[in-house]
Amino acid sequence: MSEQLTNEQINEAGHLTIGGVDADQLAAKYQTPLAVYDVSKIRDQIRRFKSVFEANGVDYAVSYASKAFATIAMFQVIDQEQGHIDVVSGGELYTAIQANFPMSRVSFHGNNKSREELEMAVKNKVGVIVLDNFHEIELLDQVLKEQDATSAVMLRITPGISAHTHEYISTGQEDSKFGFDLKSGQADQALQEVLANDRMNMLGIHAHIGSQIFELKGFQMAAKKLVEIAANWHNQYQYQPEVINVGGGFGIRYTKDDHPLAPEDFVDAIVKTIKQSAADQNLDMPAVWIEPGRSIAGPAGYNLYTVGSRKDVPGLTSYLTVDGGMGDNIRPALYQAEYEAVLVDQPNALPTETVHVAGKYCESGDILIDKQALPASKPGDVLAVLDTGAYGYSMASNYNRNPRPAVVFVENGESTLVVKRETYADLTRLDQPLPKTF
Ligand code: LLP
Repeated sequence: MSEQLTNEQINEAGHLTIGGVDADQLAAKYQTPLAVYDVSKIRDQIRRFKSVFEANGVDYAVSYASKAFATIAMFQVIDQEQGHIDVVSGGELYTAIQANFPMSRVSFHGNNKSREELEMAVKNKVGVIVLDNFHEIELLDQVLKEQDATSAVMLRITPGISAHTHEYISTGQEDSKFGFDLKSGQADQALQEVLANDRMNMLGIHAHIGSQIFELKGFQMAAKKLVEIAANWHNQYQYQPEVINVGGGFGIRYTKDDHPLAPEDFVDAIVKTIKQSAADQNLDMPAVWIEPGRSIAGPAGYNLYTVGSRKDVPGLTSYLTVDGGMGDNIRPALYQAEYEAVLVDQPNALPTETVHVAGKYCESGDILIDKQALPASKPGDVLAVLDTGAYGYSMASNYNRNPRPAVVFVENGESTLVVKRETYADLTRLDQPLPKTF
């Protein structure tokens, strides 16, 4: 059995269950490809994060990075758990509004927020706007004046720390496109502009050093750096941040070769580092905010596919093809991300072959899993790819004009459709036929 699964996930029939429901039945009821979330895993991870802060006696916010998976139902679950969310676009903000998510618990990120997005954020009174560049300070100033409003803001800083991870998902180093650079004095200048602005209430500092990080060191260095910045600002400008936001990036286990710490262990180390550094610098202990996306949504998600064609090249290799692929999970093609899969009606069976799990998209690179050991399978069998909950559905596309899958939430033996499967009609909904004059 995959080490990603527990014995409780196998029912009497020997099938994989998700949230107490047989995965074969989910596939039969909702069809495939299908994204399924075990909601109790989402709640459990949020609660674990919270308990770290509570055990350390610090003020905090667990702010779910909704880019990992943003839907109305997901925001409702985060709200039920009293979590915060961060959004990075008008679309994510709109989804949060549709979910009736309390705007006071929303942070708005982004390195190129448009005037319209800022207007929407201010109009809806989002909790905090995380300022990323000077253009945005100016734009926000105009929007606040126009709406005769005020807003809490944070400054996103690039702390000059790069986490060891895949290049495309590193965001903390000095040459990053995100945030105010520290060394050149940009961060200090931004602080002065914000402090001088009556309509902006400077809540704190933010940094995000990368994603799918396995090592403590980068986080500890970043946490220490942020406290040093806070101490500098206190000395120079008599300003003390109320909040230090260390971003997200806590790595999760996708395959047996991944050995990250438990996500809450990262947070414990961060909180302890900030506590110690604040004491060393004679600063009041700030509230600590985190923004985990992957560690909340990732392990809760499963992609179910139906096995279709197969190609065996004698003596060379075998492709087992499923009814989805890079349109519902671009991560293997984009980042060489690795996953594990099981056949849902025999997750415990001993493997008899190793195959490439291929997608149905017209690209050689559309391989969901490069090498997967599996028992013998036949067309119609259902395959579950594990830990697909983060950046799977949220990065899905209609490539090759394939409809995006449905999404189902499951908890305590009950399943519910939270995103409908796209139809062919949905695919041409925005198309306009040529006018006669063309
Ligand atoms: N906060 C900020 C400001 C971020 O930019 C991100 C992720 C997060 C929080 C959440 O990071 P997480 O805990 O999920 O690692 N599409 C890529 C991941 C891009 C992450 C971008 N920023 C992937 O599929 O791996």
